[in-house]
Amino acid sequence: MIEQLREWVAAARHITVLTGAGISAESGVPTFRDAQAGLWARFDPMQLATEEAFRAQPATVWDWYAFRRDMIAQVEPNAGHLALAAFAQRHPQRLTLVTQNVDGLHQRAGSTGVIALHGNIFEDKWLDPAKACCDAGEAIPGSPPYCRRCGNLRRPAVVWFGEVLPAPALAQAEAAARGGDLMLVVGTSGVVYPAAGLARMAGGKVVIVNTEPTELDDAADVVLAGNAAQVLPQLLED
Ligand code: OAD
Repeated sequence: MIEQLREWVAAARHITVLTGAGISAESGVPTFRDAQAGLWARFDPMQLATEEAFRAQPATVWDWYAFRRDMIAQVEPNAGHLALAAFAQRHPQRLTLVTQNVDGLHQRAGSTGVIALHGNIFEDKWLDPAKACCDAGEAIPGSPPYCRRCGNLRRPAVVWFGEVLPAPALAQAEAAARGGDLMLVVGTSGVVYPAAGLARMAGGKVVIVNTEPTELDDAADVVLAGNAAQVLPQLLED
């Protein structure tokens, strides 16, 4: 099977890759729907990653993101991230990398032009943009940082449940999905839309790489059961 897929990779004019939390699992970042560790085990990520939760308990949500940011800062990109970056360097213009991850590990592995559909956990922004009367640099440190004058809060610059994805990023990802002749869907459960919908609009063949069955398996030409950090180097090395 791997040999067949390597031929598809070699023959593809344009490859679109959609990644999810599973590609970072081997680096030591727990996947989104995994049980959480330590202090945070009693919190459900789905209940924390919303604007409603942040408005109700800003300190709890801010601290959870701070905890995840600190954890991510301590891990390294793995062989899966590196294989994608190396392929794009060897084959400029042949690969579009779309990720749902906010961990920045693709970028740290050397991938450029990454379409980060859900934002970046290392950035923050004002909770109420209309209210913003001060510069980000003026925010008073805190959990979360806040504006002394208007009381506005800084929040993680990620897309929360119920929020709209950045339109340009989504449009670019959709164009790549439709226009490519091969799509690799790596380490995502395929339950969160619109990202998961990219696999359903793919213009060419769809290959899923995942350790478990996913909600997108029915849209795939091939489902490859495996660890992304092992499979991607095999698929993408020349
Ligand atoms: P999930 O946590 O839903 O799914 C992770 C997927 O990775 C599962 O299908 C696992 O089977 C698979 N997996 C785990 N380890 C793997 C490995 N070593 N190799 C390959 N696959 C592996 O994460 P996502 O699908 O990314 O959004 O979740 C999508 C979005 O839901 C996230 O971006 C997050 C959440 O809402 C935001 O935070 C905005």
